[in-house]
Amino acid sequence: MSTLAILGSSSPDGNTCALARAVTSTCSGKLLDLSDYDVTPWDYLARNAGDDFFHLAREMAAATDIIFCTPVYWYAMSAQLKTFIDRFSDLITRNKEIGRSLAGKRTWLIATGSDETLPEGFEIPFALTSQYFQMHYSGALYGQTTDAGLLPIALEQAKVFAGRIVNKQT
Ligand SMILES: Cc1cc2nc3c(=O)[nH]c(=O)nc-3n(C[C@H](O)[C@H](O)[C@H](O)COP(=O)(O)O)c2cc1C
Repeated sequence: MSTLAILGSSSPDGNTCALARAVTSTCSGKLLDLSDYDVTPWDYLARNAGDDFFHLAREMAAATDIIFCTPVYWYAMSAQLKTFIDRFSDLITRNKEIGRSLAGKRTWLIATGSDETLPEGFEIPFALTSQYFQMHYSGALYGQTTDAGLLPIALEQAKVFAGRIVNKQT
């Protein structure tokens, strides 16, 4: 049983990272920041087959729970996370074995934004992409932020969220 959190943010030490850390430190999860890796956009000609995407895909294959972590940028997930998820197309074409190995895993979402709630429909790409790979999308933690950072309640909610992940694992 292991939890892998994948962070896509323009701020390596920003609000989304802080919320993701609060969760992974409580559930003993591993946090990977996409900005530490070379993940380039989907290429029909596979000229990027040697970048870091397959390394990260194998990390996902080794986990039982995968948490996608993103700020809300213009009502949507970050470009970094979207670029990563676009590469899932490699898992239905060039490395189907890893793609098939995702079946049965649980997926989760951690997001932060300055609005009170997540924009309508924000979770849909995560839920449907999970469904496509026969993973079980299990819910989101949303942390509201101000110029001073995350609202303190978000860190409390992070503990509850981490508890949900751990409880599902037992
Ligand atoms: C380019 C940009 C676009 C943003 N768009 C939204 C938005 O549509 N809705 C929202 O609630 N917050 C929006 N925000 C606020 C961020 O989501 C918020 O500050 C978040 O916590 C930043 O996380 P980070 O520190 O990981 O980048 C935006 C911020 C930036 C920089």
